[in-house]
Amino acid sequence: MTRHFLNLSNAGHDALAAMINDALDRKTARHGWPRGKADPDAPLEGHTLAMVFEKNSTRTRVSFDMAIRQLGGTSLILDAGSTQLGRGETVADTARVLSRMCDAIMIRTDDHAKIEEMAHFASVPVINGLTDLSHPCQIVADLLTIIEHRKTLPGLVVAWLGDGNNVLNSIVEAAGLMKFTVRIGCPDGYDPDPVFVAAARTAGGTISFHRDAQEAATGADVIVTDTWISMGQLHAEEKLKAMMPFQVNDALMARAKKDALFLHCLPAHREEEVTASVIDGPQSVVWDEAENRLHAQKSVLRWVFGQL
Ligand code: CP
Repeated sequence: MTRHFLNLSNAGHDALAAMINDALDRKTARHGWPRGKADPDAPLEGHTLAMVFEKNSTRTRVSFDMAIRQLGGTSLILDAGSTQLGRGETVADTARVLSRMCDAIMIRTDDHAKIEEMAHFASVPVINGLTDLSHPCQIVADLLTIIEHRKTLPGLVVAWLGDGNNVLNSIVEAAGLMKFTVRIGCPDGYDPDPVFVAAARTAGGTISFHRDAQEAATGADVIVTDTWISMGQLHAEEKLKAMMPFQVNDALMARAKKDALFLHCLPAHREEEVTASVIDGPQSVVWDEAENRLHAQKSVLRWVFGQL
């Protein structure tokens, strides 16, 4: 059966744990190899990944491109606007054609239904490179980063401060699979998708809501935030005003554990969702987190190709 990676739950606990372990091993090995060389075992030699971007990206684009190349394969980057998909060709036809020429398809789109449709018609694995609903690839990197620094996930308290967006939906999903607590600090009206929350609770994750940022952060092991306004969007004044009490700043970090980690998937707006003193400060692990996109993407690719 074709293995798609559309959400964390469609991979499941064991696959997610295997991806994180593999990423840890390959990261350690990679740091021992000379720069400029592919991974010596070249496990994806001869494989081609087609990447379709309907939205801008730095990390997802570069990490997947580098990951497939370092694993011995090649990539093809398709900006949707310069393909026939962007001019009205159907998702179904695009999926069928790419499946005849490439070995996997990664897509970033504002419309999660489109990626489900792509997976339905593709005969090769389809990977979610971010949709309006979720960002599972980011969360593999985030969990890898937390484990590198804290050695475990079960029992940890992760406090999310900010918008109930696609990244939070995937963190909530991960909490159910890996049994940790997510405290969501966000204003009324900005909650994550209730379907993700209900599923995570059923699976054994602990999810709580806090309209007070300090309460959400108190005693947390990890503090996470994300951009309130997507890069390139005009500033939405009303949203910024609602979010400001949830800014991650020094006072908020002081409520968390003394050695709490700070994560942000980037891109960041300093002095909006996070102050420079925090993101550029000693508790921030955002550069490890960004690098881990590369190692996480290798594991996602190896999983969809049945190597994990
Ligand atoms: N975090 C993340 O997905 O970054 P990009 O938008 O740059 O891919």
